[in-house]
Amino acid sequence: MADQVKIGIIGGSGLYKMEALKDVEEVQVETPFGSPSDALIVGTLEGTRVAFLARHGRNHTYMPSELPFRANIYAMKSLGVEYLISASAVGSLKAEAKPLDMVIPDQFIDRTKNRVSTFFGEGIVGHIAFGDPICRNLATVLSEAIESLNLPDVTLHRGGTYVCMEGPAFSTKAESNLYRSWGATIIGMTNLPEAKLAREAEIAYATLALVTDYDCWHPDHDSVTVEMVIGNLQKNAVNAQRVILETVRRLSHNPPPSDAHSALKYAIITPLDKAP
Ligand code: ADE
Repeated sequence: MADQVKIGIIGGSGLYKMEALKDVEEVQVETPFGSPSDALIVGTLEGTRVAFLARHGRNHTYMPSELPFRANIYAMKSLGVEYLISASAVGSLKAEAKPLDMVIPDQFIDRTKNRVSTFFGEGIVGHIAFGDPICRNLATVLSEAIESLNLPDVTLHRGGTYVCMEGPAFSTKAESNLYRSWGATIIGMTNLPEAKLAREAEIAYATLALVTDYDCWHPDHDSVTVEMVIGNLQKNAVNAQRVILETVRRLSHNPPPSDAHSALKYAIITPLDKAP
């Protein structure tokens, strides 16, 4: 069994590996919800043990709708993870959030249709508070890390709403414009179930959203294609890894308190002595 690791990283499209990890150990975790997307890669970053998981698998074999979200979060929790950074490719719904920019959202809108995003059920009923789905303190550490790096040509947008769609097809223009009319900032296919499950697992969660395209609403830009997403994410991956390194350094020196760490305190309705 691996050492306890307090910091987890989930890498999305284009970020399948953390180059700087040292003393790497591949950990195959089995969970009551099946296998995670891939082995968890436990290694040392800036002197701290962290666990990295390629969300779609290292060969990108899972569609967003097929992701074993519960197994992924359960596996992180079983290693001891308390802070989870989710690096994710997104489309932009606002002109000011340009491809290659970074966004740290603070809200989500759920447009998924086909996801299991709770550990509750089967006799145990619980409702976590989710008004603030992102851990504010972890988001602050992430933001301060980004700002300290002064990355050329990257603007950080702090706050904003992430629309989580089902996919795998990208949106229609009507949908994209609808989300814009709701004031949303970015769109992706994965982060909302992850954020919910992380909260139920009492793990502080924050999204590092890496803008790859203007979705399909922008009159002066071509509609999003996979080529566009991957092309820009490869450029973003180097920056994302620098941000993660700096965030891990700060987190390990000064781990912030998080409301997420006590999310279950008032969440479970079923008296536990009556649970099956
Ligand atoms: N991931 C990257 N770009 C996206 C887009 N435009 N829509 C949904 N998910 C995305």
